[in-house]
Amino acid sequence: MKHLLSIADLSREEILSVLDTAVSMHEVQHRDVKKLPTLRGRTIINFFFEDSTRTRSSFEIAGKWLSADTINLTGKGTSVSKGESLRDTVLTIGAMGVDMMVVRHPASGAPAQIADWVGCSVVNAGDGTHEHPSQALLDAYTLRRALGDLEGRHVAIVGDLTHSRVLRSNLLCLQRLGARVTLVAPPTLMPSGIAAWSGADGFATSYDLDEVLPTVDAVMMLRVQRERMSGGYFPTAKEYAVTYGLTPRRLGLLQDHAVICHPGPMNRGLEISADAADAARSLVLDQVSAGVAVRMSILYHLLAGEGSQE
Ligand code: CP
Repeated sequence: MKHLLSIADLSREEILSVLDTAVSMHEVQHRDVKKLPTLRGRTIINFFFEDSTRTRSSFEIAGKWLSADTINLTGKGTSVSKGESLRDTVLTIGAMGVDMMVVRHPASGAPAQIADWVGCSVVNAGDGTHEHPSQALLDAYTLRRALGDLEGRHVAIVGDLTHSRVLRSNLLCLQRLGARVTLVAPPTLMPSGIAAWSGADGFATSYDLDEVLPTVDAVMMLRVQRERMSGGYFPTAKEYAVTYGLTPRRLGLLQDHAVICHPGPMNRGLEISADAADAARSLVLDQVSAGVAVRMSILYHLLAGEGSQE
């Protein structure tokens, strides 16, 4: 494995291998001295052309805890703002001899294009509405810790599906792990042609959240991405919260063991109520914690593990 660009590129065995390594990486988080020598002498550039709190900081922490030299760049503050092209920018960084670029970009496919241009490993840290593979891996890790083996488990992914890269990666990842997935959204936010998505088959769709909630082991609420919406996808925020939000009333529809996920950042009061976000069954902060361990595992597999750089 040289790059992590899409969950579609990973077999079930490769996903499980990343998740298993993350278990031992997670132990580092609870040590006084959070440092392993694994990536000493390696250099990782985190190149974020879009804003991020969780992904950027956890990739940086993951690299540092594995003793890599990590450098953060954003579009602002680099020569991108002077008009330098993406290709010239990444070739310039690549010429410095870095071992990995972790890239977030608003254009779907940008990390894959960069991987064609440069010689180092490339990790997709979220590209447009395409994929967010490290998020799906950390979500799977978190769900496995809460529920055990995901084979046959029922997961609902709910909300702004049209604009969500988290959806696409999670759908592929959960299906590889044997989970049953139901996608729930208003008709305006259900992606057109969703049944034809390559590599993702056998999932259900619904417009009725109340009907689906009592049947799930986990519900994954997705953020309403207003910054990607050019038109009106729902009449008002209040109407969306009432029909598709995880409200206090809807918490009562969940089975006792069912858990709640949200990749963040959350719109409290819109897709998720404060009661749901802060409930004992909410895994939101577990997902953040797992993010560091899973990203350590990703860096390890790409830069140091068996088959890395192939
Ligand atoms: N979940 C996620 O990608 O969050 P950030 O945008 O804060 O990285």
